[in-house]
Amino acid sequence: MTDQAVPAADLYTDEFAVDPYPAFAKMRTDSPVCPVTSPRFDSFLITRFDDAKAALTDPRLSKDLYGPGQHFLRIFGPNSEGLNKNMLNSDPPEHSRLRQITSRAFAPRRLEALRPRVAQIVAELVDRIVPRGEADLMRDFAIPLPMMVIGELLGIPTRDRERVLDWTQVIRESGSSGRPPAVEKAAVQEAQAWLHGYLTDLVTAKRAEPGDDMVSMLIAACDEEGVLSERELVSTTFLLLFAGHQTTADFMGNAMVALLTNPDQLDLLRKTPELLPHAIEELLRFDGPLPVASPRIATEDLEYQGVRIPEGSIVGVVINSANHDPEHFEDPDRLDLRRDRGPHLGFGHGVHYCLGVSLARMEAQLGIGALLRRLPGLRLAKPAEELRRLPAASPFRGLIELPVRF
Ligand code: HEM
Repeated sequence: MTDQAVPAADLYTDEFAVDPYPAFAKMRTDSPVCPVTSPRFDSFLITRFDDAKAALTDPRLSKDLYGPGQHFLRIFGPNSEGLNKNMLNSDPPEHSRLRQITSRAFAPRRLEALRPRVAQIVAELVDRIVPRGEADLMRDFAIPLPMMVIGELLGIPTRDRERVLDWTQVIRESGSSGRPPAVEKAAVQEAQAWLHGYLTDLVTAKRAEPGDDMVSMLIAACDEEGVLSERELVSTTFLLLFAGHQTTADFMGNAMVALLTNPDQLDLLRKTPELLPHAIEELLRFDGPLPVASPRIATEDLEYQGVRIPEGSIVGVVINSANHDPEHFEDPDRLDLRRDRGPHLGFGHGVHYCLGVSLARMEAQLGIGALLRRLPGLRLAKPAEELRRLPAASPFRGLIELPVRF
């Protein structure tokens, strides 16, 4: 790490957790490629839109985090490999093989067929909220909705979904309990071990008794063509489970706060519901759930913005900073649901572009649409700055609570 490295303590403050965008603006101006040192790992953060887009397709930045250097083994421990060595953490040609077979589960026809069921899950959740006049939109809506949808897609039995959700929440909320880091780390490892055991059993059960679900479909493809190993089946299922609900839940929470703190835009959306698909993209640009893309490794010495990134360094592409770059988005800190200034990086870019993008859009449109339609007078029950959030250094940007009244 170079001499100018910014200690994470200076960057990841409480104010940063509430509103990281002023810090990102400063980094884009003063230090657009910024070395950061933190207890988790040291990295170089890339903060401008053009650099971010270039880095996401730069073949010199590898996603093979269990390959040479074994970065993830060192950071997350030996037990992490069974769950995390999946397409997101691999390079072509291995990545292409894993992605190609998994994409079949996301065929547009298959997803469209799911729409009525997603609408039904949304309606059931909102039905439970309506008579109460108040709710925690994270606990009562944003977290259970994507979990129920991905649980159904993967064929996780209904009776197990709550337990699976509880263990995934241990990973999502790690660092926010106030417990010592060693205790938090042990809790995450326990959650990973439980999920690994559960998903391994799920794959075995689906092999014995296949259903009309994604896991059974992956097993069939694997048995016919021998394209996925048993370990890859489990780690792919974990990726779909985690990526499938975590980001969507955090996105819906962030989007609702953005709307409730921008009443003119909320009003516009209520009066013009057909704007919703467009609005979802602006909400994702405005405050996305994955502030930094998953880590990449420099396979050779690189230079971005005149800063040398030595071979072996971890590189973080700061999606939420790139999406606020004034070179690309006029008045970027303003929520403008009618904005039309080219694509954002909220779903990534390049070969790792989000595989679940259509599902995420469907859930967000049906979910947010129903909340706005069915909860008139919706408002925050406490000021946005006081909402409990995931810690500033979390890889995710999201809320722990979203109390509302209506
Ligand atoms: C990858 C964002 C929902 C499955 C990604 C990436 C981003 C992203 C930024 C690229 C990460 C990188 O390059 O490091 C989001 C957001 C979502 C969302 C903002 C919700 C609003 C979903 C859903 C699924 C999903 C619902 C479905 C199960 C995946 C998978 C990958 C991925 C499998 C890895 C693709 C690959 O490595 O080729 N997502 N995602 N995501 N996402 Fe999503």
